[in-house]
Amino acid sequence: MNIASLILAAGKGTRMKSKLPKVLHKVGGKAMVERVLETVQSLGTNKDVVIVGFGGDEVQSYLDGRAEFVRQEEQNGTGHAVKMAEPVLGQFDGTILLLCGDTPLVTKESLEALLKEHSSSGAAATILTAHMPDPTGYGRIIRNEDGHVVRIVEQKDGNPEELAVQEVNTGMYAFDSKKLWPCLDQLSDDNAQGELYITDVVAILVNAGDKVSAYMTDNFEESLGVNSRLQLAEAESILKHRKNVELMTAGVTIIDPNSTYVAPEVTVGADTILHPGTILEGNTIIGENCEIGPHTRLTNVTIGNHSIIHFTYGHDCEIKDGVDVGPYVHLRPNTVLHNNVHIGNFVEVKNSNVGVGTKFPHLSYIGDSDVGAGVNIGCGTITVNYDGKIKHRTIIGDGAFVGCNSNLVAPVTIGNYSYVGAGSTITKNVPDKALAVGRSKQIVKENWVTEDTFKKK
Ligand code: UD1
Ligand code: CA
Repeated sequence: MNIASLILAAGKGTRMKSKLPKVLHKVGGKAMVERVLETVQSLGTNKDVVIVGFGGDEVQSYLDGRAEFVRQEEQNGTGHAVKMAEPVLGQFDGTILLLCGDTPLVTKESLEALLKEHSSSGAAATILTAHMPDPTGYGRIIRNEDGHVVRIVEQKDGNPEELAVQEVNTGMYAFDSKKLWPCLDQLSDDNAQGELYITDVVAILVNAGDKVSAYMTDNFEESLGVNSRLQLAEAESILKHRKNVELMTAGVTIIDPNSTYVAPEVTVGADTILHPGTILEGNTIIGENCEIGPHTRLTNVTIGNHSIIHFTYGHDCEIKDGVDVGPYVHLRPNTVLHNNVHIGNFVEVKNSNVGVGTKFPHLSYIGDSDVGAGVNIGCGTITVNYDGKIKHRTIIGDGAFVGCNSNLVAPVTIGNYSYVGAGSTITKNVPDKALAVGRSKQIVKENWVTEDTFKKK
């Protein structure tokens, strides 16, 4: 099937009371419009067009070349928005899948079912509908005595009888491309909002003798349209619940699903335990038998098996097997922690490779470093990586032992199996197996305290 998607994303989203275009508000850590676009692309669409308007540059740069963009300078309604796409889709021969950028929860399965119904019924248009317990705010699907769809009535235009209908328009439709465009010239703005409604195409087709079909999804939650912050929170909560159910079904323990947020893209292996307050976002991959949390946020982090990460914020880094991290640790981009590394409390690691079995037990900053295997970094040690202009690397060989409270002034190399005395400021390379002490010698003045010392006080 030849399919082009058309996503409406030009509206300001007045009810959000935001300077950010509505469709860029995030759900599960991703902009709503991005979720919609990725879902349609997973269907294997031939072309994807996004209508942008309010905050158009922002939306376009966020989606950065992943679709074609068309401007709708004035937001005169959803019908007007679709019309803007005629120059790029007017010649397209196939099915046009129309969606709104503010329905981020729609699933690939429902869109597939919509397309299947559309092609098997041979309808000019097929609407994805849902039965909503509370249909307030949505367009209502009006059917005739035979049960055929005849038109859609918007909330603001409906009479009480129409508004009592609980079958709603999800704002997602499949159109026969050849039938769609001629209808748009017949739209009128003679309605409560003074706008051109795409929903009026239904009555136009039916009146012309064309067939309009509907596919009702059995999961009304996925058609939630986000128009307000309240609905944004609702969407987040539905997405969270959906993912938690998927993970628990696949063998992941979630101690408190209410406070555990795992983005749809994230994978978590079986027998891993997620403690309360865990947030897993972006391209995060967690292996089996790990323990994550409590109170841990990981964004784009890959973790192997049997690792324990608690009270930690980590982003854009990799953690291998049997590693334990936390509490109160910050793992910054380009950090790789190899097997059995131990990172204790109040440690920050940035842009560093940390070898097998190495330990940073407490209160350290290790940045721009290559640390070998079996290294012990004493409490309070820091890499002095920045000279005010550029960052330099610190290299620490296998088996090295760095005493507490040392400053390793980069660029510097600490050799294999060498020792650094506690409190040292190391500015020169330390050879393999050497001891380096870089601190002032202790002076002891015996009987320095006299009767006079006390009198002065
Ligand atoms: C729309 C439907 C309604 C449906 C609901 C589902 C119409 C007239 N109504 O109502 O039947 O139940 O979606 O969520 O279509 N947009 C533009 N340009 C515009 C106006 C809107 O691009 O000029 C975009 C918005 O950015 C948004 C989408 O179209 O992503 C829907 O617009 P919105 O104002 O949210 O429509 P609803 O009132 O929710
Ligand atoms: Ca909406």
